[in-house]
Amino acid sequence: MCGIVAAVTTGTDVRAVVLQGLKTLEYRGYDSAGMAVCTEQGLDVRRKMGKIANLEEELDKNQLPESATAIAHTRWATHGAPADRNAHPHVDDQQQVVVVHNGIIENYLDLRAELAELGHEFHTDTDTEVLANLIAHYRKSSADLHQAVRSALHKVEGAYGLVVMAADDPNTLIVARLDSPLVVGIGEHGRYAASDMPALLHLTRDFLVLDNRETAVLTPHSHALYDVHGQVLERDLMHCDWTPEQAERGGYPHFMLKEIHEQPDVLARTAFDRFHDLAGDVDFEPEFGLDDRTLQSFERLRFMAMGTSFHAAQLGQKMIGELASLPGETLNASEFLYSPRLPEGQALTVVVSQSGETADTLRAMREVQKRGGRVLGICNVQGSTLAREADHLILTHCGPEVGVASTKAFFGQVTALYLLAIRFGRARGVLNAEQGRQFLQDLRALRHKLEYCFREETLATIQQAAQYLSGVRSCLFLGRSFQHPVALEGALKLKEISYIHAEGYPAGEMKHGPIALIDADFPVIAIATPGTTYEKMLSNIQEVRARDGKVVAVAAMGDDKVAAAADYVLSVPAVPELLAPLVTVVPLQLLSYEVALALGKDIDQPRNLAKSVTVE
Ligand code: G6P
Repeated sequence: MCGIVAAVTTGTDVRAVVLQGLKTLEYRGYDSAGMAVCTEQGLDVRRKMGKIANLEEELDKNQLPESATAIAHTRWATHGAPADRNAHPHVDDQQQVVVVHNGIIENYLDLRAELAELGHEFHTDTDTEVLANLIAHYRKSSADLHQAVRSALHKVEGAYGLVVMAADDPNTLIVARLDSPLVVGIGEHGRYAASDMPALLHLTRDFLVLDNRETAVLTPHSHALYDVHGQVLERDLMHCDWTPEQAERGGYPHFMLKEIHEQPDVLARTAFDRFHDLAGDVDFEPEFGLDDRTLQSFERLRFMAMGTSFHAAQLGQKMIGELASLPGETLNASEFLYSPRLPEGQALTVVVSQSGETADTLRAMREVQKRGGRVLGICNVQGSTLAREADHLILTHCGPEVGVASTKAFFGQVTALYLLAIRFGRARGVLNAEQGRQFLQDLRALRHKLEYCFREETLATIQQAAQYLSGVRSCLFLGRSFQHPVALEGALKLKEISYIHAEGYPAGEMKHGPIALIDADFPVIAIATPGTTYEKMLSNIQEVRARDGKVVAVAAMGDDKVAAAADYVLSVPAVPELLAPLVTVVPLQLLSYEVALALGKDIDQPRNLAKSVTVE
């Protein structure tokens, strides 16, 4: 998805720092990039299709002048094919106003026709060029750039994260937001704007987060925030606890690999400060805001999420069902709008999202709230839309996740949901203090046990299995109970980054269709860890073998029965059944990584995918 970086500073040349910020957004997925500067001589723009490296090459050949003010963009095409001319920034036909924009202007064709009648000329296929011309049009009647932007936005239908710069005002940027994230960074030497905080961490960790329909006027020394009516707003800055190093690869060849290896630390960061060992309970921060009485009052839970977060949500439902005896359902957030409009009653909706910006997830959350329901958000990004709009909040504290294929965020979400299950269980009297303590202790012990997943021998077997899987066209992931969502997640990881077709199924369903696919060329990845489903999984493995299917099994270390039946065994430490997903998911993540590596795929930026999907 598109990315924005902009800076207005005290006289230093910002081209390099803006470009650096843009590079940290590369992971979001994009097809072209561009930058514009503003000097006493006016606006100057460079745009290039393809990777940021292409833009850099262009900037070497055809330099932009030094400038203290710049805006830049990575574009993910919506209106108009990826092409130099459709890349942002976009200028109006008189070269007076320049704009970078995330989102979609839905009524751009009508606006374009109106502006064309007034004599404006258009040179691109984009909705954003219309916006630049509309702002320039209003600028004719008001020299005030902020006023012109506000007038233009009144006419616009759609979504925008926007930064605007004008040729005759090199010391000002106007930013605006509606349904597309935008943050303002407050630095010693200037003011910055970006679609995502990691793009500015090398410049500042203090942010002003814009809400929908707000605008801000930025100069090198000031920032003023306005509501939709143009009234000045006061808002405290948010200090981001992410460090710039967390957003770097740190010696790993890929972000995905780094993030997989970070998971034992994620466990500690998400959970350990929240343990209340004495009470066998969990202390969430004040923004959780649900006391015992309220937790007792809920009669059912609804979980909603997309992608990997959806699989974490499925696990959350199972865990809370188990530890707190609360019924629940998990819905794909994009389907919620079409589900029957039943009374909310005493329900809590738990919305899970790494970014807190996924369009379908936010839409579903707002719909629940509109229907009078309550929302608990589980989210990794402080200051994100979900974090701000949910009625209650648990942050997962995973640090920035850059790899498009989500790994550590899933780990943090499942950990947070496990804590939530304990909190519910304690509040509702299903767990006593002793039991609560045991569940906390199990989680604490996991950190050390996870090391086993990263031992050389374990990795060597994963690599062998990956070599084999890199030659297949399709495969099946099977799991039961708590391992069913892990099977779904394993299949999702594989298809996301290796483009090998994979399906996740509850193992019990295998005989109702997928078994027809099994032959010597169709492997099954089966999760067969100790617990209630172990024997049945063993039978499933035998059924696959009986049809010449190859089996890659995920099993507890030293499990001879599985070893005898499987072609490859990815072994994991033995842990309590409820926590087993946190150990079985690790070799599956590594397996996908190794398959994609063997196939030479672009692991951190898989084709067609975006880190944060901000359109429905
Ligand atoms: C995209 C990403 C996935 C992610 C999903 C939901 O599809 O590529 O990795 O799981 O969005 O994102 P969220 O930020 O809501 O967890």
